[in-house]
Amino acid sequence: MIQRPRGTRDVLPPEGRLWQAVEALAHEVFTAFGAEEIRTPMFEATELFVRSVGETTDIVHKEMYTFADRKGRSLTLRPEGTAGVARAWIENRLQDRSHPLRLYYIGPMFRYERMQRGRYRQFAQIGLEILGAEGALADAELLLALYEFLSRLGFADLVVHLNNLGDPEDRPRYLDAIRSTLAPHRRALCSDCQRRLDENPLRVLDCKVDSCQHLAAEVPAVDTIASPASRRHVAEVEAHLEALEIPFVRNPRLVRGLDYYLRTVFEVVSPALGSTAVICGGGRYDRLIADLGGPAVPGTGFAIGEDRLIEVLPAAFRARVLARPRLYLVPLGEGAHRTALALARAWVRAGVALELELAGRSLKAALRRADRDGFRGVAILGEEELAAGVVSLRDLRRGDQQRVAMGDVPGFWHDRCGS
Ligand code: HAM
Repeated sequence: MIQRPRGTRDVLPPEGRLWQAVEALAHEVFTAFGAEEIRTPMFEATELFVRSVGETTDIVHKEMYTFADRKGRSLTLRPEGTAGVARAWIENRLQDRSHPLRLYYIGPMFRYERMQRGRYRQFAQIGLEILGAEGALADAELLLALYEFLSRLGFADLVVHLNNLGDPEDRPRYLDAIRSTLAPHRRALCSDCQRRLDENPLRVLDCKVDSCQHLAAEVPAVDTIASPASRRHVAEVEAHLEALEIPFVRNPRLVRGLDYYLRTVFEVVSPALGSTAVICGGGRYDRLIADLGGPAVPGTGFAIGEDRLIEVLPAAFRARVLARPRLYLVPLGEGAHRTALALARAWVRAGVALELELAGRSLKAALRRADRDGFRGVAILGEEELAAGVVSLRDLRRGDQQRVAMGDVPGFWHDRCGS
């Protein structure tokens, strides 16, 4: 039997309803904050990710699905969304539109990761980017939109971990500090980190190997070298969060695993899942678009891992979505088929979620199935009902049954289900 590739998942019923509900809320909340949806390709020129995410990052170095197309061009399945948004911004001259532009996206990303809980090789991200605003207000608004979205899903215990990566001008001093701290322990680092120490020492700090993490703890925290301007920036973000009562902690060890960040960086952690369960990551990237050959446009953004988010969804949200009432329309005998189809059309148009019995079940078998599959009601259409222009509507929650005129069913049903 052919099996799905390692690290991929099938979303099976009824879980698809949770994905729909989460995405519907993302559309609603981010649109309400003035964002527009952007859809970029699922594969891009490999060079885009090398130049934006960074050649020495784990993502580019080990995790990309890279292939040559039939003309020999090197393409890569996108491992993240920000690079594609930046490319689209430049290519479509979005700087000509009024700024800032808030862009959000929902879609699959691909990383060849080692298998472990919550890590997949195809996973979905829900991301939001604000382009063209350099102040702390933009970072605060971004975090506000994120927190609003997560709160409406019912999360109450999430914590924002925040840090200051400083400005690019601060970086050489910091890299020197990492090198001088770690050089004496070079041989105790993993082979990747020995190479990173020469090429991009910052990346040693987010290595997942235990012994490297141990040594990285010796390095001074990155925010200690941050410029006064970047300190003011991040302090202002923190003051906004305090005023909004959005809980956050300063995490001086947070450096993020991608090269394009400066100043504000953050992650959202679910304490229920432990400190490794990062649900969302993001930060500011004011040089990315210019580094890719575009104009100097500042940016700030985040991406939520949708698979992980759904794994830890609050029970109340999950129950509410899965319990959405459905009506089971059961024609008894072929004579009722045509009317049943016409009713299905009319009732669906009136906003009733229903399912038409297709397998010719008897009344008894249909009632058994309705019970097993969690239908709220059964609309029975037998010969007698057909002749009288009614259905017998059995409400499985209340345990009663009434004859309702066919045209009155949507109103009756909405009253019953409170929607
Ligand atoms: P990232 O931290 O690499 O950032 O990914 C964001 C989120 O995607 C993570 O917090 C995690 O929830 C989820 N994620 C990452 N890899 C996997 C995986 N293998 N399986 C399941 N979920 C995963 C970015 O991608 C940046 N582009 C975020 C950003 C947007 N920064 C600025 N704008």
